[in-house]
Amino acid sequence: MSLTTQTLSPDTDGIARAERILSDGGLVAFPTETVYGLGADARQGKAVARIFEAKGRPSFNPLIVHVADLQSARAYAKFNDDALRLAISFWPGPLTLVLPLRRDAGLSPLVTAGNPTVAIRVPAHPLARSLLNAFAAPVAAPSANPSGRISPTQAQHVLSGLSGNIDAVLDGGPTEVGLESTIIGLAGAPTLLRAGGLPAEEIERCLDRALELPQSGDITAPGQLASHYAPVAKLRLNATTAKPGERFLGFGASVGATLNLSPGGDLHEAAANLFHHLHQLDEEEGPIAVAPIPDKGLGRAINDRLSRAAAPRP
Ligand code: TXA
Ligand code: MG
Repeated sequence: MSLTTQTLSPDTDGIARAERILSDGGLVAFPTETVYGLGADARQGKAVARIFEAKGRPSFNPLIVHVADLQSARAYAKFNDDALRLAISFWPGPLTLVLPLRRDAGLSPLVTAGNPTVAIRVPAHPLARSLLNAFAAPVAAPSANPSGRISPTQAQHVLSGLSGNIDAVLDGGPTEVGLESTIIGLAGAPTLLRAGGLPAEEIERCLDRALELPQSGDITAPGQLASHYAPVAKLRLNATTAKPGERFLGFGASVGATLNLSPGGDLHEAAANLFHHLHQLDEEEGPIAVAPIPDKGLGRAINDRLSRAAAPRP
């Protein structure tokens, strides 16, 4: 595949062009508050197939459907009381719900990879919202990176991974949250399928119950294969200092850090910087040592991404 990938401006003209590309069955990367997504019309099977082709993604991996609001979401998924409560509390925002698929949803089966459930979310980023409102139809979008690489938090990351494979990227600058959405399975008991930009504790408080964790070996979130968010470099976690030859990704008061996720020890700032710092460190060769990150709130999602990035490659 070799296309000329256009960079679209974050204005009415850029949105109109992006909308036209989606209608024509093309691929547009766009910013959400979490990471950049690679969007296609979720009703057009050929367009969705192009996502897998562009990312080099295993095709059994289902995609998140992005819509403008809860009312639109109800055309594709069945909402129970818990789902409604979470949607009302946290949408638009960094939360994806996996719900029973409606029979009359009209989505390409490639989006759900043939599953009887669909992952759905209402993003909060103003450009994503404008695009979804203009398009007025469901947009399937995985993170806009080649399969197995770290998620893009800037248009430049998208271009360095996918330029020539996609039609356009809508440039909205760096994303605010920097981590993918939290994914909650609600087809059965509420389950934390992926820790992400919305802390699990907030969801538990809203539902007034603890979230279950997926059974091991269960592939309800098949994208959660151990080595999924891999940078090219080798990572060594929970390091207090760097060994000779290592670059050091610090947190808080780390001494001698090449880059620091948050010198003040703020987990929101660390999440927003995580993928960008990994992308930057990955521009040079050699291993990376990473400081310990507290395992609470957004720290759980950061540690999840780091342990996947450090896992041995298949
Ligand atoms: O923040 C995000 O969620 C970003 C932005 C672009 O919205 N998207 C994103 O998509 O991270 P992706 O494709 O990189 O990750 C989606 C995850 C995958 O692990 C996939 O397997 C899981 O969601 N998923 C999708 N549909 C599912 C379903 N029906 N049941 C269980 N897991 C599902
Ligand atoms: Mg991804």
